[in-house]
Amino acid sequence: MGNEMLDKMAGRALRFEILTIFPEFFRGFFEHGVVSRAQKGGLIGIGVHDLRGFTEDRHRTVDDRPFGGGEGMVLKAEPLARALDALGIRPLAERKSPEHETGLRESGLRESVVLLSPQGRPFNQAVARELAGLERVTLVCGRYEGVDERINTLYCDREISIGDYVLSGGELAAAVVLDTVMRLIPGVLGNEASSAFESFGAADDSIDADVDGVPRSQHGAGGLLDYPHYTRPAEFRGVRVPEELMSGDHQAVRRWRRAEQLKKTLRNRPDLLAKASLTEEERRMVGRIEKEGETGR
Ligand code: ADE
Repeated sequence: MGNEMLDKMAGRALRFEILTIFPEFFRGFFEHGVVSRAQKGGLIGIGVHDLRGFTEDRHRTVDDRPFGGGEGMVLKAEPLARALDALGIRPLAERKSPEHETGLRESGLRESVVLLSPQGRPFNQAVARELAGLERVTLVCGRYEGVDERINTLYCDREISIGDYVLSGGELAAAVVLDTVMRLIPGVLGNEASSAFESFGAADDSIDADVDGVPRSQHGAGGLLDYPHYTRPAEFRGVRVPEELMSGDHQAVRRWRRAEQLKKTLRNRPDLLAKASLTEEERRMVGRIEKEGETGR
């Protein structure tokens, strides 16, 4: 990798490298919306690398039958290793940093090489925050029955799954990871505060600021799901926007939103409530909601 590229990455911009046998898959996704704007604004860089370009045989072979027999095909190690080498990514053993997970590599970059696979550790907002703090994230998309495990052993410091289901390949998962991580980079969403207030937002004090005159101390999701949102018209097909939101009373808005967060979390993700940071009053509120069976649906 040239110095020019390293210099560019020394800024706050996060560089994503994607290794795939379906580079076309990403085209629409990267050419629209937030991803496109973030790229144009120099906040992220994305390189999509076609593994077939790193083959050396006439048929550009990227897969082969599994040793030991069985169904399907396995992505071969050589094209992947060549692609990683071309990106200046050294095998784990040659890495200079003592940190294991996300340390400095030979290139001097703080980076992570991620294998997307259903066997990986679960992806969540905390993992996304870790990756967003790095300078380069390389996403290796598995395919077919899997990837030759030596790529995982030799190069990858993380194996990530986006959920307990099996996709046809790692491309969708890579897109999910890229989108989630990118949104956490300052400047990408325009409104700096936005991502902190969503579901799974950090529960830290930094999001306690008043914005637009609306007290936000209760907005931070703090490990809860986000509250419901409404916009005009005030009535739609007989369903009215909750009065609290139209009252102009910021305290009432805040109380309503926090209560709705609790209800929604109780209904859809009760597992999150156990870990959430709730006040005594909120715990009592959860008890009342449970008793009244107010969670609906
Ligand atoms: N490839 C196939 N299924 C996957 C999953 N659930 N997460 C990440 N990569 C995958």
